Amino acid sequence: MPRKFFVGGNWKCNGTQASIKELCNSLNKGDSVESSPVEVVCAPPAIYAQYAREHLRKDFQIGLQNCWIGKGGAYTGEIAADMIKDMNFHWVILGHSERRHIPELHESDDTIAKKVEYAQSVGLKVIACIGETLEEREAGRTQEVNERQLAAIAGKVKDWNGIVIAYEPVWAIGTGKVATPEQAQEVHSFLRTWLRNNVSAQVAENTRIIYGGSVNGKNCAELAKQSDIDGFLVGGASLKPEFLDIVGSFR
Ligand code: G3P
Repeated sequence: MPRKFFVGGNWKCNGTQASIKELCNSLNKGDSVESSPVEVVCAPPAIYAQYAREHLRKDFQIGLQNCWIGKGGAYTGEIAADMIKDMNFHWVILGHSERRHIPELHESDDTIAKKVEYAQSVGLKVIACIGETLEEREAGRTQEVNERQLAAIAGKVKDWNGIVIAYEPVWAIGTGKVATPEQAQEVHSFLRTWLRNNVSAQVAENTRIIYGGSVNGKNCAELAKQSDIDGFLVGGASLKPEFLDIVGSFR
């Protein structure tokens, strides 16, 4: 059975009640994805998750952008995966490059892998992010870096049906410098081959590998044509009505 496409909207640290209500009103106008081959998850800032759920169309799911590495407790400011599940949200983004590379956060491969493990243990589905920096790409280390990051995550995955892999080249995030379809396809194909050789042919076939990094309503169609690009993780454009065009690129 063909993989269902997946489009995530990562709203990052953006929004107010007023702007989220306005965005939801725009997104609510799009064609239903109920019977389409596309699964859509929007991830607002955690404080607005319930508010977004109240205003967003019911065929778009709501996810969170991060969670704590384990059970709740004396971890001021953190949100435990158990709490996300308790609030009946089912998706969480983990390992985003902004949590790997922003000095104040600096999450390691090991931390991200343990977060994936714990999130799955309480029943959450995970959008697990990987990607190389410009320096790493220019040094010819793209495959090495993405293999290392994927292997760390794969080592902790208990249920591959609950994982979406997001390849997000750091140099394309928020820069307007989207990867060419060929660049993205090359890495996606490498990742799928890695899954086939290191997990199983079935996991390789069934796992959605999505692209993120300056996707917009104009460049999504060419990217969507690539055989190993199963969807997108969208940042800036997910805060605009053009997010519907990106969802529609997989119809
Ligand atoms: O998680 C998606 C995000 O990192 C991509 O951001 O603004 O380049 O689409 P953007």
